[in-house]
Amino acid sequence: MTRDLKAPLQALRNEHRYRSRRILEGPQQPEQVIDGRPVLAFCSNDYLGLANHPRVIQAFRQGVEAYGVGAGAAHLVNGHTRAHHALEDELAAFTGRDRALLFSTGYMANLGVAQALLRRGDRLFEDRLNHASLIDAAMISGARLSRYHHADAGDLARRLGKTAREEDRETFISTDAVFSMDGNLAPLEALASLADTHGCWLMADDAHGIGVLGERGAGTLEHLGLSQDQVPILMGTLGKALGTSGAFVAGPEDLIETLIQSARTYIYTTAMPAAVAEATRASLRIVQQEPERRGHLRDLVVQFREGSGQLGLELMESTTPIQPIVVGASERAVQWSDSLLQQGFLVPAIRPPTVPQGRARLRVTLSATHSRAQVDGLLQALGGLVGKP
Ligand SMILES: Cc1ncc(COP(=O)(O)O)c(C=O)c1O
Repeated sequence: MTRDLKAPLQALRNEHRYRSRRILEGPQQPEQVIDGRPVLAFCSNDYLGLANHPRVIQAFRQGVEAYGVGAGAAHLVNGHTRAHHALEDELAAFTGRDRALLFSTGYMANLGVAQALLRRGDRLFEDRLNHASLIDAAMISGARLSRYHHADAGDLARRLGKTAREEDRETFISTDAVFSMDGNLAPLEALASLADTHGCWLMADDAHGIGVLGERGAGTLEHLGLSQDQVPILMGTLGKALGTSGAFVAGPEDLIETLIQSARTYIYTTAMPAAVAEATRASLRIVQQEPERRGHLRDLVVQFREGSGQLGLELMESTTPIQPIVVGASERAVQWSDSLLQQGFLVPAIRPPTVPQGRARLRVTLSATHSRAQVDGLLQALGGLVGKP
């Protein structure tokens, strides 16, 4: 007899935690048609508006003409094209690391790093609010996982101090650089200094910082001025601010060679299409040549925070384009999200278990392609909800 699936699904519905998909017609951009209804979306991770940028599309088309559609094989067989290789070199130069290695998704990159570097019995320390892929990476690695209090280097120091370092055992710290559901930054300077003192690996997952933070858009580590020596493992995704798909790990030569030799999510999977690599190369150029995109985005963040403050909304401590509004109960988050949708704004409700109990929220994300008037429109709609149960 197989296990009954109906009752758990019904329980999710009863708890307002049932997830369903909406159907998007057309490209990623603020004005969208979702489930047949025109909306203004405030939920995309396409922070710089590159997913539908003409130069990125053109590079993708040229990539298809040069390389066809599918990569046809894994990187270690014959799927690793000149386009992939050039993108890796450009990502390494962009992030100021020795080398970079492409993965098909950020999820796979995180699993691959942990599996390649950690063994059963090693110690892995993770921020409690790390992305699900880092938590799953811990399970795959077989390491002993300890989850320290969110963004609390003091708690991490206590935990590191409690367990004596054993010979031949690795110690590894991994953290989101920008927390995906909160928008705040990890205390990376303090983590780097702890990693140095205790002789551990430090890995930063900068899925939400690459392209957005730093003078040149090279991400949270550029923003904080942290070198490869201080943060040896950097993971960045290509599907968010860079507007394409896939991910990379950047760091020292030996790290990258180790991943090539032993990361199973690198070895046993088809390479991303070369055209995606070509499109990403075009995105990278735009990220560096058009800092005004980041400038406009920063202005929108200030506008949104000031407006929300005037409405008395509870925001998180975030200076990034991720600007969640905490509403408390899951039911309330869903009601607010539904009501905004009625008014033409798409803002998803994020509920436990993705966020802690009682901290359900609307996850507003801003993009360089939003206008000030569009942000004002959202603020006005939110104003109509304040004070409602
Ligand atoms: C912090 C973080 N890490 C990793 C990922 C996974 O990246 P990908 O979508 O490329 O699998 C995401 C989001 O998807 C993320 O928010």
